[in-house]
Amino acid sequence: MEDRTVCGIHKISVIYILIFSLFIQHCWGNWMWLGITSVGVPEKMGCTNLPLTNKQKDLCKRKPYLLPSIKDGARLGIAECQTQFKHERWNCSTTKERSVFGYELTSGTKETAFIYAVMAAGLVHAVTRSCSAGNMTECSCDTSLQGTGSPTEGWHWGGCSDDIKYGTWFSRRFIDNSVRNSSAKGGDTLLSMNQHNSEAGRQAVAKTMSTDCRCHGVSGSCAVKTCWRTMAPFERVGNYLKERYEASVQVLDRPTRKFRRKDKDKRQEPIGKEELIFLHKSPNYCLEDRRLGVAGTRGRRCNRTSTGPDGCNLLCCGRGYNTHVVRHVERCECKFVWCCYVRCRRCESMNDMHTCK
Ligand SMILES: *[C@@H]1O[C@H](CO)[C@@H](O)[C@H](O)[C@H]1NC(C)=O
Ligand SMILES: *[C@@H]1O[C@H](CO)[C@@H](O)[C@H](O)[C@H]1NC(C)=O
Ligand SMILES: *[C@@H]1O[C@H](CO)[C@@H](O)[C@H](O)[C@H]1NC(C)=O
Ligand SMILES: *[C@@H]1O[C@H](CO)[C@@H](O)[C@H](O)[C@H]1NC(C)=O
Repeated sequence: MEDRTVCGIHKISVIYILIFSLFIQHCWGNWMWLGITSVGVPEKMGCTNLPLTNKQKDLCKRKPYLLPSIKDGARLGIAECQTQFKHERWNCSTTKERSVFGYELTSGTKETAFIYAVMAAGLVHAVTRSCSAGNMTECSCDTSLQGTGSPTEGWHWGGCSDDIKYGTWFSRRFIDNSVRNSSAKGGDTLLSMNQHNSEAGRQAVAKTMSTDCRCHGVSGSCAVKTCWRTMAPFERVGNYLKERYEASVQVLDRPTRKFRRKDKDKRQEPIGKEELIFLHKSPNYCLEDRRLGVAGTRGRRCNRTSTGPDGCNLLCCGRGYNTHVVRHVERCECKFVWCCYVRCRRCESMNDMHTCK
């Protein structure tokens, strides 16, 4: 179905609100914190009434000015997860059931890995932006580079380099606190896996940073440049993590000190900090399984001509699809009329829409 969104309203914001209100009802350990995205103006509520663990409450009381960033971080992470997986069988959706992200958060699959990584990265990103905006006393621009550079090549460090150190520290303190200090003993294997993946998420923010420069010189020449380090937009972090997800490594579910690859041939290869790891194979996500909180792909929209994961064949797991003709009416060709309103036409189109059986 070809969508022409000329005067489209941002549906996303409505979806966010719905999702966040779900989170508050379903707390998974220290992941309750996502619930704060739904409690209106958290700054005004005080830390005690927020859905946080005791340790997080303590941290919150000491740093209440970080609440908006925590909220932004959660929002970034969830939105990016849903964007990255929009066309896949598992679409990072949340449901009203107890299982919200429940199954995915505890299943030890590569989806679990992605969720932890993207959420931890979101928090780093949001806190760091707040640092660079000068909203924080503990952190600001990274000045460690300033004054250095390469004058002979005509550039030096200057401007405001994003300083991810504080955000990274905070993301660790805030998210990793449920990991007991026992590395990978017994039932803590999943916790260690989650911690590894959260850390990989934070690494992703560091790895995708880039250098921006601005030219100074006579009439726009680039004789002298000022450069600074900047975080990539969060979509780029998301793309990077999605690639890591595609290449994620299954590890042995054994209480050893260090994770080792399940693949016998590669067992000696150490596992990189930036790699995502998982313990268990994912289900195929084809059919609904309420017990696991898997929604299945029935009713999902698919693309008849695509050979990618959104193609009807793959998305519908070979079950076939239904075709409906949909009438689509929208405001279009909007013009600003002096003065002061917007006049639009109504455009109508008929489209085929395919949904999985
Ligand atoms: C994910 O797919 C389910 C159907 O399987 C659908 O109900 C839900 O709206 C989708 N979620 C998102 C975020 O696209
Ligand atoms: C910084 O603080 C101002 C005022 O409180 C707020 O409007 C802005 O969104 C904040 N910026 C960031 C990146 O947190
Ligand atoms: C566990 O605690 C000990 C001492 O309290 C510390 O030396 C060690 O680094 C900790 N290990 C982890 C994985 O945090
Ligand atoms: C369906 O897939 C084809 C081929 O990948 C693509 O060109 C087309 O834009 C897609 N249609 C929609 C509605 O996404």
